[in-house]
Amino acid sequence: MTAVTIPGLDHAPTTHARLLSWVREVAELTCPDEVVWADGSQDEWNRLTAKLVDAGTFVPLKKKPNSFWAASDPTDVARVEERTFICSVDPRDAGPTNNWMDPAEMKATMTELYRGCMRGRTMYVIPFCMGPLDAEKPMLGVEITDSEYVVVSMHIMTRMGTKALARFGDDADFVQALHSIGAPLEPGQDDVPWPCNETKYITQFPEERMIWSFGSGYGGNALLGKKCYSLRIASVMARDEGWLAEHMLILKLTSPEKKAYYIAAAFPSACGKTNLAMLEPTIPGWKVETLGDDIAWMRFGEDGRLYAVNPENGFFGVAPGTDYHTNPNAMRTIEKGNSLFTNVALTDDGDVWWEGMGEPPAHLTSWKKQDWTPGGEELSSHPNSRYCTPIAQCDIKAPEWEDPKGVPISAIFFGGRRATTIPLITESRDWQHGVFMGATLSSETTAAAVGKTGVVRRDPMAMLPFIGYHAGDYFQHWIDTGKSADADKLPKIFYVNWFRRGEDKRFLWPGFGENSRVLKWAVERIEGKAAAVETPIGHVPTAAELDLEGLDAPREDVEAALGFDADEWRAEIPMIEEWFAKIGEKVPTSLRDELEALKLRLG
Ligand code: GTP
Ligand code: MN
Ligand code: MN
Repeated sequence: MTAVTIPGLDHAPTTHARLLSWVREVAELTCPDEVVWADGSQDEWNRLTAKLVDAGTFVPLKKKPNSFWAASDPTDVARVEERTFICSVDPRDAGPTNNWMDPAEMKATMTELYRGCMRGRTMYVIPFCMGPLDAEKPMLGVEITDSEYVVVSMHIMTRMGTKALARFGDDADFVQALHSIGAPLEPGQDDVPWPCNETKYITQFPEERMIWSFGSGYGGNALLGKKCYSLRIASVMARDEGWLAEHMLILKLTSPEKKAYYIAAAFPSACGKTNLAMLEPTIPGWKVETLGDDIAWMRFGEDGRLYAVNPENGFFGVAPGTDYHTNPNAMRTIEKGNSLFTNVALTDDGDVWWEGMGEPPAHLTSWKKQDWTPGGEELSSHPNSRYCTPIAQCDIKAPEWEDPKGVPISAIFFGGRRATTIPLITESRDWQHGVFMGATLSSETTAAAVGKTGVVRRDPMAMLPFIGYHAGDYFQHWIDTGKSADADKLPKIFYVNWFRRGEDKRFLWPGFGENSRVLKWAVERIEGKAAAVETPIGHVPTAAELDLEGLDAPREDVEAALGFDADEWRAEIPMIEEWFAKIGEKVPTSLRDELEALKLRLG
């Protein structure tokens, strides 16, 4: 063995040989000053948050206990889809919706970037588990990172450290996740508050279940348990093993008769998952509890139903727009402290503020660390600024949120942000039609990813940036999933749109807590208790079918929000055809049939 001595390298708290040799290999390549195994303790949290305060990365909040404000480098604020790669062995396995590079070539390129990239920094080894620790087959991973911000964020977002490592034994399988901000320090060189690198790569090697990330410290690029593992890599595992890894919230809806329903919903980034997951119903007697706000892993149970588990341990929610009116439960969760806030504004008395919180204070420090006063052009907070907070302290978490067997899903919602065309809610005719709805889901782009906002793009199952393989194969996997089950045990699939607008651009539907009325109609459909109109696009309620008691919205608006317009849909068809053409020959025949049938019904 080569005699490289790096402090800490030989003090590993495990005898897992493959893990040990990988850690050594990475340390020898990246040359950190020391190696530290993250244990997940309160002491570690205290030490690292103090270090981040010293470095100027964190400002401790005076108004929220054990909470910190961070402002990223202004160029490192969102996921970078252009720099995200699926490096499958065969390019046909990555498909037309992913960037692809030959895995050997990518490894050669990134190995050179990683060489010496942790000089002057500490290399942290973070054993973690996605989903409950007491799962029969825990979903393990190890992230190696040189970012303290990542370590403390992983404290919130995952089950990690000693308790996760206990499930590794000597030879458990785990996902290798290597991360570096790519900012080595020369001896004596001053650090910056948010080190990162202009060159960024977010790379998945699906066959090896491996992730390499370089250059970014931002959430979705750097917390590799989240999008990289739980969606891109897990979607490949799910394809191979017959389950689903999806960009979905999980909620529990209890009716006045005390019957519980579990609903999973896929909306693209910044389109309302976190809001719906924590909704406060405006209709009496109905209750919503939260199990997850971003990711659902769904497997068939012994009874033939589809059960969902949230792999995450925290919420990483969009801050702007969140307040006591739109999402009181998120506000109460972060109020308890133990939270991180990135790219929001800082108040002079040591609290956080963002757009959507009502009247701004007279003076703020903006996310760009500049003086900010109301009335100017610039936003105080980046539109993709986020809070990071533990699920455990959410008052409305469902008691079963950590049950390793998951919860049986009764309904799946697909939804996007569309100003026109898509009704408030449409029930699919059957599973295959529901998969067609998901596969052709469209939405206007948001600030959650770098690029132009407000452009309509297809975002299948809200998974466009997260499908770890060919989108056509992914659609087929959804079709096959339905075929493998009893039709009457499958969740019913609905298509929703909270974002339809009137001619003056106002939202036709008030949304947020009022969405409980839409949830109610959906479960009444499941129970066979509510009526619907059969239209060419599926079953749509009339305004009379929805419980609108006490709703403060003009009836015409509700009717317009629910409206099916054949002309708008005829205009949609060429866009769907273009989308299928892009996916190419792997579009399942059954989905082409759905498209032809829709065209016929539209006349
Ligand atoms: P990611 O966490 O990025 O995956 O996104 P998300 O789907 O969790 O999005 P989130 O719930 O944070 O929604 C963000 C945006 O959607 C904010 O601008 C909200 O104001 C808006 N939003 C959420 N629900 C509604 C709604 O029912 N109606 C309207 N009009 N806007 C909504
Ligand atoms: Mn998301
Ligand atoms: Mn969210």
